Amino acid sequence: MSKDRLIIFDTTLRDGEQSPGASMTKDEKVRIAKMLERLRVDVIEAGFAVASPGDFEAVKAVASVITESTVCSLARALDKDIEAAAAAIAPAPRRRIHTFIATSPIHMQHKLKMTPDQVIEQAVYAVKKARQYTDDVEFSAEDAGRSDLDFLARVFEAAIQAGATTCNFPDTVGYNLPFQIEETIRALLTKIPSADKAIFSVHCHNDLGLAVANSLAAVRAGCRQIECTINGLGERAGNTSLEEVVMAIKTRADIVDVETHIATQFIVPASRLVSSITGFPVQPNKAIVGANAFAHESGIHQDGVLKHRETYEIMRAEDVGWHANKMVMGKHSGRAAFKARLEELGIALASDDAVNDAFARFKDLADRKHEIFDEDIQALMNAQQAESTSMRFELLDLEVTSKMGVAPTAHLELRMDGEVIKTTAKGDGPVDAALRAIEAVARSGADLQLYSVNAITTGTDSQGEVTVRLERAGRIVNGLGADTDIVVASAKAYLHALNLIEKPLERQHPQQLEGI
Ligand code: KIV
Ligand code: ZN
Repeated sequence: MSKDRLIIFDTTLRDGEQSPGASMTKDEKVRIAKMLERLRVDVIEAGFAVASPGDFEAVKAVASVITESTVCSLARALDKDIEAAAAAIAPAPRRRIHTFIATSPIHMQHKLKMTPDQVIEQAVYAVKKARQYTDDVEFSAEDAGRSDLDFLARVFEAAIQAGATTCNFPDTVGYNLPFQIEETIRALLTKIPSADKAIFSVHCHNDLGLAVANSLAAVRAGCRQIECTINGLGERAGNTSLEEVVMAIKTRADIVDVETHIATQFIVPASRLVSSITGFPVQPNKAIVGANAFAHESGIHQDGVLKHRETYEIMRAEDVGWHANKMVMGKHSGRAAFKARLEELGIALASDDAVNDAFARFKDLADRKHEIFDEDIQALMNAQQAESTSMRFELLDLEVTSKMGVAPTAHLELRMDGEVIKTTAKGDGPVDAALRAIEAVARSGADLQLYSVNAITTGTDSQGEVTVRLERAGRIVNGLGADTDIVVASAKAYLHALNLIEKPLERQHPQQLEGI
């Protein structure tokens, strides 16, 4: 018997981007959108078009290149939001407007200052207005997870009557428990007379670590769309992780009634791409996409897996793109093979010059490192991207002397605003010395919020990928740097972050928009 199709609605480019510091440029959004299309995501929520001209352009750019997936823009239940969303998604062959209004007592009373009847009226108005531009309209009852059930049923019924084709239940603050969400959705579907005329959807936040479990519970109750993000990126603790929910459905096909059309072999490349663009590293023990997700450490497990893989493995690593992407390149690999690999990793380079530059970097790394893995190529491309952003600071040279029991000293040469400056600083360790030397010149006034180093492949010749998060006057940026020398990688990451923080804001962060 054929199973129901579960629609995978990816909101990495919208809700995912609402993670502090995860802002993406238009080009970065386009790169991720292309990868999502390869993954065969059904709906790509590309952004919040009204938030700023930059957001509008980013949604439009995604809508202009995506042909298979539906492209969606979020819109509050307001004329100007819906008009901006409609104009931004216009170039896409498949278009959706996603309009929302809050329905919980706390949001209606304190944020919207509207009565329940006014909220219904506004929701109906918004859905009807959105239907003037597309026949694919999603309505979300924000904070549904804390809303009154009878009221929710009234709002959704009214939205369906007004033309909503998808009704979304957001657990906006991640408050629900799996058994509760299952009961609520079941009850809701019986209370809504026209429930069979729309697809029901769920959008879970992960504040209690339950987003995936809640989404699966909602599917059991009848939802046929899950909203999710790559790596579970999103506001606060994030959203439902696409890779976890998709692989749970695939792996437990024996007891789950739905199936997705996701091309799971692109899950790991997608995860890497999002991680490298946003600067949010993936924790090693993260399910599916963490570096340890398929690594067996204990002798008993290794022995079992060698004798019969299924003793300790419930999924095949290659099914989510691990082994498929382990192709090794080396200093003898040619330009054509390199270019083909970039394409497979979802890295599109605009011009021949850009490919040549990337290839020169690859050759340089291959001289220092015997085998080059996908992670190395991804890191190289991030470095190229980082250096192509307009640069106030550029690293010219760095030498750090370090000896046991002696405070290390960094000798730094950098270019600032076109001028070459040399300086020296001591620190508690070599990285500290290097970053102090940079700060002695830059005097940025920024706060270091996060410093992390990841060995991006195995082996002691691995490149270290460093993420540096800086905050200044409420603005948060993530800088990235990679090198086989982690002190150099750290300096590159710090300078990247400084260059970003100096750049004029391309657009307002969507979180700064108000409710209606
Ligand atoms: O969490 C939320 O409520 C949302 C809605 C706008 C769908 O992101
Ligand atoms: Zn959300």
